[in-house]
Amino acid sequence: MEREHFNSRIGMLLAMVGSAVGLGNIWRFPYLVGEYGGAAFIIVYLFFVVVFAVPIMLAEFTIGRRSQTNAYRAFGKLAPGTGWKWLGILPVICPVMILAFYNVVGGWSIHYLIKSFTFTHGADRAVLGEMFDNYVTSVGIPIIETIIFILLTAFVVKGGVKSGIEKCGKIMMPVLFIIILGLAIWVAFLPGAGEGILFLFKPDFSKISGDMCLAALGQSFFSLSVGMGAMLTYSSFVPKSENLMSSSAKVAVSDFFFAILASCAVMPAAFSFNVDPGQGPGLVFETLPFIFSQMHAGPVIAALFFFSVVIAALTSTVSLFEVGVNYFIEEFGITRRRAVIIECLILAVLSAVCSLSCGIWGDFKILGNNVFDTFDKFTSNIAMPLGGLMTCLFVGWKMKKPDVRDELTNGGSIASNVRIYPVIYFLVRYIAPVGIIAIIIANFL
Ligand code: PHE
Repeated sequence: MEREHFNSRIGMLLAMVGSAVGLGNIWRFPYLVGEYGGAAFIIVYLFFVVVFAVPIMLAEFTIGRRSQTNAYRAFGKLAPGTGWKWLGILPVICPVMILAFYNVVGGWSIHYLIKSFTFTHGADRAVLGEMFDNYVTSVGIPIIETIIFILLTAFVVKGGVKSGIEKCGKIMMPVLFIIILGLAIWVAFLPGAGEGILFLFKPDFSKISGDMCLAALGQSFFSLSVGMGAMLTYSSFVPKSENLMSSSAKVAVSDFFFAILASCAVMPAAFSFNVDPGQGPGLVFETLPFIFSQMHAGPVIAALFFFSVVIAALTSTVSLFEVGVNYFIEEFGITRRRAVIIECLILAVLSAVCSLSCGIWGDFKILGNNVFDTFDKFTSNIAMPLGGLMTCLFVGWKMKKPDVRDELTNGGSIASNVRIYPVIYFLVRYIAPVGIIAIIIANFL
């Protein structure tokens, strides 16, 4: 069967940016910035993006486009008869683990989107906090909403690469951009917003620590969707004529831009209403609803905001979902429709477990974390850095040098890429692996 490819360059880029821009930008980035000293975190994060995450993305692009197959088979196809084929297991397991908890947050976003019109003016902060606690710890509704979110993702992926994934990115990403930009501009005019912007851009270097570095590293991988096969899978649909280096730069810049824009929408609003921005994961679901409830236009702003969270999450889950679907289609020879159904069933079970672990199953802990947090921490702090590390080692040390060069410079035909190529290769071969190992070790000391 002929392998599907993206139809247009803009469609391909928007699908990739859609994968990168997600809850990581709107939900996680702002609270990490709040927790780890504002601009100090942003600087460390940016450094990791340039030195580690982008080279890893390029390594994944190289493997994906060269192998023209799913993430599981790609390693074995490029290094036949070697133990490297076992690396393919990581992209089969990791996306499912991410989806398990990510879908739950997607479900929460749907809930808050529906609820946004009830954030009545002047609601009590404690009441809204309690509402969130009661909601996430309950049994039925969060699971139903999570399943609705899974079905939305499945609907897009069922359409295939061109009419599902590409189309979804092309429609959703501009809408997302307009909403977040609008919100950021609107927030900038709130009284006291300047302080929040100052906090975002004023570095507190005393907050730099091993812990912060691992958080920044994990976030850079998570936000750019690298280290677990999503970008690898997407790049296997990229036509040979595309410039991989310029695509990776565009994805990285857009992702960073979205993260900053989302922080500009969230942080100054928090300052303006005197709430602590370093409050952690509850920022979006507890703090913001309180802020919305203080505004006259609150319900409308809340609806726009949570709608943007749902869209951002959806374009990311689509890329994670496709990794598994592509695997099932190619490895088991089944139809896309069937692959989508199987993946839905697996995810419904795992996500339900994650959802319940926030409530009645909360006492079951793995190393002090419930299942939801275990999946979150394990994927971003261990599996993705490890996946990134192995991907770099594979491209830097196992693949034939001319093959890598050929992919990244389109056979030497793109002069600027030929010039930058030695730097990228050096980063992939030495700097990224050594850096990742150093940070992982530093964290165990
Ligand atoms: N990059 C997405 C985000 O920031 C999450 C994601 C991770 C998507 C890995 C795909 C693969 O929310």
